Amino acid sequence: MKIKLLLTFTMISAMTNIYAQQKLNPEIEKKIDVLMSKMTIEEKVGQMNQYNGFWDVTGPAPVGGTAEQKYENIKKGLVGSMLTVRGVKEVKAVQKIAVEQTRLGIPLIIGFDVIHGYKTLSPIPLAEAASWDLKAIEKSAEVAASEAAASGINWTFGPMMDISRDARWGRVMEGAGEDPYLGGKIAVARVRGFQGDNTFASPLRIAATAKHFAAYGFVGSALEYNAAEIGTNTLYNQVLPPFKSAVDAGLRSVMTSFNTVNGIPASGDKYLLRDVLKNKWGFNGFVISDWASIREMIPWGYSKDENAAAKSAVEAGTDMDMEGGIYVPYLIDLVNQGKVKQEFVDDAVRRILRVKYELGLFDDPYRFLDEKREKEIIGSKTNRETVLDMAKKSIVLLKNDQNILPLKKSGQKIALLGSLAESKNSPLGSWRIASDNNTAVSVLEGLQQYKGNALNYVKGLELTKTEPTFLTEVEYNTTDKSGFEAAKKAAKEADVVIMVLGEHGFSSGEARTRTNLDLPGLQQEFLEEIYKVNPNIVLVLNNGRPLTISWAAEKIPAIVEAWQLGTETGNAVAQVLYGDYNPSGKLPMSFPRNLGQVPISYNHYSTGRFTNKDNNVFWSHYSDVDKTPLYPFGYGLSYTTFEYSNLKINKNSFAKGEKVEVTVNVKNTGKLTGKEVAQLYLHDEFASVVRPVKELKGFEMVELKAGETKTITFTLTDAELGFYNNQHEFVVEPGTFKIMVGGSSDAGLTSQFDIK
Ligand code: NOJ
Repeated sequence: MKIKLLLTFTMISAMTNIYAQQKLNPEIEKKIDVLMSKMTIEEKVGQMNQYNGFWDVTGPAPVGGTAEQKYENIKKGLVGSMLTVRGVKEVKAVQKIAVEQTRLGIPLIIGFDVIHGYKTLSPIPLAEAASWDLKAIEKSAEVAASEAAASGINWTFGPMMDISRDARWGRVMEGAGEDPYLGGKIAVARVRGFQGDNTFASPLRIAATAKHFAAYGFVGSALEYNAAEIGTNTLYNQVLPPFKSAVDAGLRSVMTSFNTVNGIPASGDKYLLRDVLKNKWGFNGFVISDWASIREMIPWGYSKDENAAAKSAVEAGTDMDMEGGIYVPYLIDLVNQGKVKQEFVDDAVRRILRVKYELGLFDDPYRFLDEKREKEIIGSKTNRETVLDMAKKSIVLLKNDQNILPLKKSGQKIALLGSLAESKNSPLGSWRIASDNNTAVSVLEGLQQYKGNALNYVKGLELTKTEPTFLTEVEYNTTDKSGFEAAKKAAKEADVVIMVLGEHGFSSGEARTRTNLDLPGLQQEFLEEIYKVNPNIVLVLNNGRPLTISWAAEKIPAIVEAWQLGTETGNAVAQVLYGDYNPSGKLPMSFPRNLGQVPISYNHYSTGRFTNKDNNVFWSHYSDVDKTPLYPFGYGLSYTTFEYSNLKINKNSFAKGEKVEVTVNVKNTGKLTGKEVAQLYLHDEFASVVRPVKELKGFEMVELKAGETKTITFTLTDAELGFYNNQHEFVVEPGTFKIMVGGSSDAGLTSQFDIK
């Protein structure tokens, strides 16, 4: 009877569990068994405790006390990890204590925010996403991993994979934008870049963290650290897919988020962490809280005190406490008093030790600590070449009337305006703790390398009152127009005016929500004043999020979205402006016409009154502005042009599980070689849960010489055709599917097929 029951149960789970579980290495598991059998409860909970290092701070005041107190606690075996300790010398100092002065010699795992590079900085992640170039993105993460690893770090708190449609939220700069399909592909590329083949055979690969689990990109009003109230449809079909893809790719850690998800703080959310992530998806790495987020369950009004916070977090499945100071002082007693089951602690410790074993830290705790390697790798020439390549690919050409771009190589008088043009700091972006200030190649320096034109740089407007820092608010200049006249004079005398405007690099990122997406400070006025004297303007935007630039989009002939592109910014911008690189980027987030449209995304639902068929007011629209975005998701121009034709599907009707093959011809109809990202969007016309009007389900980058045509094939499988219904089941439903193919989410060619 027992056997029969067991068999039935196994059969049912085999049938219903469509989720692949991450694989365990039996040898490592045995070693963990032996080690854990020797550990006291104090040592176990110690593994679950993470302290900040001694200088850089990335959150509220750290709780671990002085350096001496932290050293003492490491000696007692009460610390499993440190964050933001960096450099071979510094890491060795703490690792030595853990390995040589504790009873069991368990090594620390050293975490760090390697978000868009370590010392050599890549473009901000949102910019990288604009490249739609998965290989380049993987390579960029690999460079970041190698520099961090060479500096003694074994684990990054990235990639961030929070989907967001709200450009007010400062952290959109850290993600891949608004779309879960693109976001999922990029998440996997980044995990691979950091982790390599997941064996960590090379000491230049580090464990990655998917963050922030979950729904942080949907915080109410885009207010930082706020509540996220989010329905099943959005949670399962928009928020979770990139995390699931990353887990399937072998991801080793997950970070919780600061927000609540439908009323439960994410660090105490048993459903998300234990039921979905660990059990359903079979994730066997470990979960780290975000900074102090376990403790913050108290002010949230979820946990009545520290004991309650510790209990909720460990039971929910938060394995390590980042800077909350909650587990060590409370969890040990809770277990000793029988108030928290030992098995929760054991599960957490096993996961943490597993990743330490996988990283090879038990074989050689000093394997990441080689001063020679540190010197050779960090800032190397090849790393700079990689980030330059990434930077060029991240630039999006938004407008280019009368082919004002590319600039001629000689004989032009160019005026360069705006203090961002000379900034060597802002282009480094927001997350760059290990990098030195003022180390980017500025746009001015980049342009100066082209000697054929007369380049006249006049600042004209100082962007900020003082130079901002990672820890302070950016204060924009709202009063000083004293440079306007000199700038106007320079503009008048020029053939082309390049204006570098936008946000300071520290204007986006954590805790940088804005309630206004216009060009900050006096920049709009500056732009309009210059336009009056010479409208032949190339506007180069530096920003960490979509901005509202409707005036510029109407008046300014050329607009180049250049984000914050990292160390090689100026070289990348100059090569694009001069046509040595033909821009190929496409927007990973919609640009709204005005703030009232935000949150906005291309993959919205239809509504019952989607079009104005009766020509009266009772339809889904805004009274004062078109409901479409200014620039849609997936949009971006090139110095050449492309034409799509001959869209074909291999059959009209398919059985479930069959592959759908879509082909289309793309022709370069312009005069220059260029790259195009061909995109396929899908609409499931009728479903048990309404589906978005379109969803990206395939993209392919193709390089074409002038006049050349290539045929692209997209393959759609159940993974692309299905969706999660409100019972959280992934289903492919029979019916008609429409496809749209083209160079943006406004894709023009359409066709359809049926699933029987
Ligand atoms: C808080 C941020 O939300 C998180 O992304 C980061 O990794 C930690 N601080 C550590 O710096």
